[in-house]
Parts: sequence; C-alpha cells; structure tokens
Amino acid sequence: MKLTLPAFDDFHIHLRNDDRMPIATSRLRMGGVIRGIVMPNIVPKSVDDAESAIAYVGRLKEVEPNFTYLAAIKLSPSTTEQMIIDAVNCPDVLIGKQYPAGVTTNSENGVTDISSMYEVYGWMEKYGLPLSLHGEVPRTPVLDAEHAFLPILRQLNKDFPNLKIIMEHISTAETVKTILELSDKVAATITPQHLVLTINDILAGRLNVHNYCMPVAKTEDDRQALIAAIKSGNPKFFFGSDSAPHYRTAKEAGKSSPGIFSTPVIAPLLTSIFAENDMLDKLENFTSKFGAEFYGLERNTETITLSDEEPYIIPDEFEGIVPLCANKKIAWNLAK
Ligand code: NCD
Ligand code: ZN
Repeated sequence: MKLTLPAFDDFHIHLRNDDRMPIATSRLRMGGVIRGIVMPNIVPKSVDDAESAIAYVGRLKEVEPNFTYLAAIKLSPSTTEQMIIDAVNCPDVLIGKQYPAGVTTNSENGVTDISSMYEVYGWMEKYGLPLSLHGEVPRTPVLDAEHAFLPILRQLNKDFPNLKIIMEHISTAETVKTILELSDKVAATITPQHLVLTINDILAGRLNVHNYCMPVAKTEDDRQALIAAIKSGNPKFFFGSDSAPHYRTAKEAGKSSPGIFSTPVIAPLLTSIFAENDMLDKLENFTSKFGAEFYGLERNTETITLSDEEPYIIPDEFEGIVPLCANKKIAWNLAK
C-alpha cells in the first residue's frame, strides 16, 4: 500500500550547534519533516533572544536550506519585555521555552522558581508569544517529576488565560487527563519514544541507555493513554519528536546523557507505530494539521509518500549517533 501525506511538522527538535548539527540537520528531510521548532539549549550559549535565534537559524540553513526552522528562545528571569517584543516581531522565532534547572541536557541555568517568571509570562500573554514547557519539577523523584508539575500547569492556565501553553513530550496518563481538563489554550506534544517505550525498556534486565531521555518513559498504562489521546483525534495533542542527538560514546559513558535521536527515521517510524496501533487515519492530523493550527501556521503543501511494500531496518547508527529503535525492522518507509 502507498500513503501520500503532507510532509510532517516536528514541533520539538534538538539540532545542536557542534559537530552533531550537520549529522541531524542534513537528515531532516530524510525523516519526512520539512518544518519544525528548533530548541534553544545549545552550547556554548543558548538561544535567548531574537538576535541569537536569527544567527542560529542562519547556521542551520547553511546545512539544509530547504526546511522551515522556527526558533525557540530560552526563557529565564532575566528575559526582558523588549526581548519578548523582539521575539514576537521576528519571523524566525515562534515560542519561548522554559527548562527547569538541571533536569535535562544543558538546563543548568534553567528556571528554579516559577514565581520569578510571572512578569515574563505576563509579557508573553500580552504580546502573544506561546510558552513551551519542559514540565518536570527538579529534585523530585524522577518518576514523579512530571506529575509534580501538573498543579503548576493548572495555575499558569488560570493566571494567564490568554497565554498559549505547550506541555512538551508528555509521558503519563495523568498528564493526558490534565491537558483535557484545561482550556483550549493548552496543548501537548507527544514523542515517538513515549509511544513505544516503557520504563522497563530502560531498566529491566540490562540497562539500556539508548532508551533514556527526560521525561523518562513510564508504565504500559501511561503508554496506552498517550496512544488513546491520539486515537481520540483531539487537536490538543500533536507531534514533537524531542529528537535529541548524543554520540554513542556520550550515551554509553559512566554518566549517560538523556536524549533519544529520531530525526532521520521520523516518517517511517511514526507511520509504522500508527499502523501497529490501528490509527493510521489519525497520522495526518497529528503530524501536519493540529500543531500548525495551534500555532496559527499555514499547513504544509509539499507531500511525502510512504509505502509498506518493503520493510525498513532502522540503522544501528548515523555517524556515531544511535537512533530510536535501532536495528528494528519496521513496516513502513518513504517510497523511493
Ligand atoms: C534533551 C537534549 O538532549 O537536549 N534531552 C532529553 O532527554 N529530552 C533536552 C530536553 O528536551 O529535555
Ligand atoms: Zn527536548
């Protein structure tokens, strides 16, 4: 069978700023993705304002010009009103991203106290810059860290009713329920890893660092709740891969970095996951309609064609970076 769909949007991608940048960026279109939000947690300096966003997008375009990069600026208590105004007026910037301090890769200088951000949220609401959240509370037990963030999410929706909020890479049944209870200003992204993995794929038997990301994959019930959220066809749930490349050496080191790379295999893998879960009819809305509508973007007109006529074996690695579901045989691939 062949399936022609609009090329995908990926509303949460890490493309880095070092020698991993060309490895990931040159494979965006290979994964069937033509537009996406690029995350700001790069080194040596994160993307904090419109000026650094323009510079970063320029560097990405040198690697792959045929892609629409929408930047996120990293928020902190030192973000000013002028920075929010400049971000809103900059066509390269789409959102402000908030990391809690120390919970994930390059988040050391993230936010420790939500109340220190209230003025910034007020400006974002006033000028219309959506707030993208890594919704985990630092220094709580890892498996509860997203759960502990939900009261904060509720409070933000209440205190800033006109602020668009995206809870990124959701991982629990309880978060799905909370998103459904909040206003239509609140949406969530879902990753492929949280649709295929549970905590046992990381910790049971032999430790598998390649399945380790933040938030960590949770239980089978949680995984099923994410699938059910997509199956429900509710537009609050759309695609953001959180593809986050780390070299095999960094993953297999004594202290393993969180993050799972999926950019080169997005369309084949996601289509296979949707087929396995009997929800292929939900794929187009999830990957190219609901997110675009939430952000007020035109829909992609370019198309991609997938086929299940020949299986695809996901490579073991791409230039030293191990992808999600490495070596796995999947049913769908981009048609030649
Ligand atoms: C991401 C990374 O490596 O940049 N890691 C991850 O586990 N998801 C950062 C992030 O989005 O948390
Ligand atoms: Zn991320």
